[in-house]
Amino acid sequence: MSCAASNRPSKPKIVVEPPGPRARELLERDKRFLMQSFVRWYPLVVERAHDYIVYDVDGNMYIDLNSGLAVLNVGSTNPYVIEAVKKQLEKFTHYSLTDFYYENAVVLAEKLVSIAPFRGDGKVFYTNSGAESIEAAIKVSRHHTGRQYIIGFIGAFHGRTMGAVSLTASKPVQRKGFSPLVPSIIHVPYPYPYRCPFGAETPEECGEQVIGYIEEWVFGKLVDPSEVAAVFIEPIQGEGGYIVPPDNFMPKLRKLTEQHGILLVVDEVQTGFCRTGRMFAIEHWSVEPDIVALAKAIAAGFPLGAIVGRAEVMDIEPGGHASTFGGNPVSVAAALATIEYIEKERLCERASRLGEKVIKRFKEAMETGEAPLIGDVRGKGLMIGVELVRDKKTKEPARKELADILMKLFKRGYLVIGAGVSTVRIAPPLTITEEALMNAVEAVIEEIKRASSK
Ligand SMILES: Cc1ncc(COP(=O)(O)O)c(C=O)c1O
Repeated sequence: MSCAASNRPSKPKIVVEPPGPRARELLERDKRFLMQSFVRWYPLVVERAHDYIVYDVDGNMYIDLNSGLAVLNVGSTNPYVIEAVKKQLEKFTHYSLTDFYYENAVVLAEKLVSIAPFRGDGKVFYTNSGAESIEAAIKVSRHHTGRQYIIGFIGAFHGRTMGAVSLTASKPVQRKGFSPLVPSIIHVPYPYPYRCPFGAETPEECGEQVIGYIEEWVFGKLVDPSEVAAVFIEPIQGEGGYIVPPDNFMPKLRKLTEQHGILLVVDEVQTGFCRTGRMFAIEHWSVEPDIVALAKAIAAGFPLGAIVGRAEVMDIEPGGHASTFGGNPVSVAAALATIEYIEKERLCERASRLGEKVIKRFKEAMETGEAPLIGDVRGKGLMIGVELVRDKKTKEPARKELADILMKLFKRGYLVIGAGVSTVRIAPPLTITEEALMNAVEAVIEEIKRASSK
């Protein structure tokens, strides 16, 4: 199957108002037997999913703008990936890479190093998730530099394990009740052009003010830069609201970290693998980090994560770090096929082209007043945020409206979730047909319009 395949559905089909009877029954059992620590935007109970089409247990068919949370960049059950996985399943399913060797893990490491957004030699460490990749990056950063402080950003989301959640700062509930967290982590504001924490008038000014804050207030008053091991940053904030930093920011941050021998760790867990129109989002600013954290889309839904770092920083000695399942051979086979598919189908170019169309349409709806709740439209490739506000001047977040809009879209057969406080997040599989995508965008605009007129 390729993205050029025709006769794929371009509209959803709802046969029973969701949640239908089978879904409701499952929701009850879920409530009874699962810890309810998740936030579910709406009661979708998945029965099967192919490419960008999701079916629920009551026979409804949906158009997916979530990619199972930015994982299914190559679509669900991508035949190319499934074929590779089946082959590997018949060979062996596990043989702990921490103690032994196998070839596909080396082949994938070679591939990851070759596509990593930095020049020179690199090395890989495999994990099973985004949070574990962040844990590994924290350990490598401290171990390599012999320094203990780490700088992260307000609004960041890096995962839920104790190290990762200590860097996470997008919603208080994510940290509430878990302290003491990992010490020596300092959070600074993220350059959020639409709501610059320093009140800057232009995005560039906002970028400069954040750099100035780190230099003057953090390094000048709080901690000597020689004690800082790393800066961890999402090149585009995901959970925090699909926030794109100003163009001057990443180069300035790289310069600042280089000046002080501080490692730059980019968390590409959500932005990686062509989501933003480049293999890795940091490439938009031609900045070369020291470590890249990966997971989500790397293996099209099979559990795998990785960090790819410059060879000289990946220097933990034998026995210092490992994971039994990290680099599971089935997940690795899926990752190799995923990356091959992405390259073969030129999904980066596709994400850029489709993303530009989507952004243009949302901007038009904002600028013409067609959908008055839209306060800001931003993004790269198919990682697009549409921030909703009740008032363009006060920028009061349209929180409740967002929840209503997403629920209405769900009932119509469009799977969309939010990010940050009141941002619609558009992140479909990169394989989605243009027609299905633009129909979904029109549905989103219609629902925003409807909510605006209330
Ligand atoms: C940028 C980023 N980093 C890390 C994570 C954590 O990944 P996981 O849920 O696989 O632990 C996420 C998950 O949403 C993420 O968006």
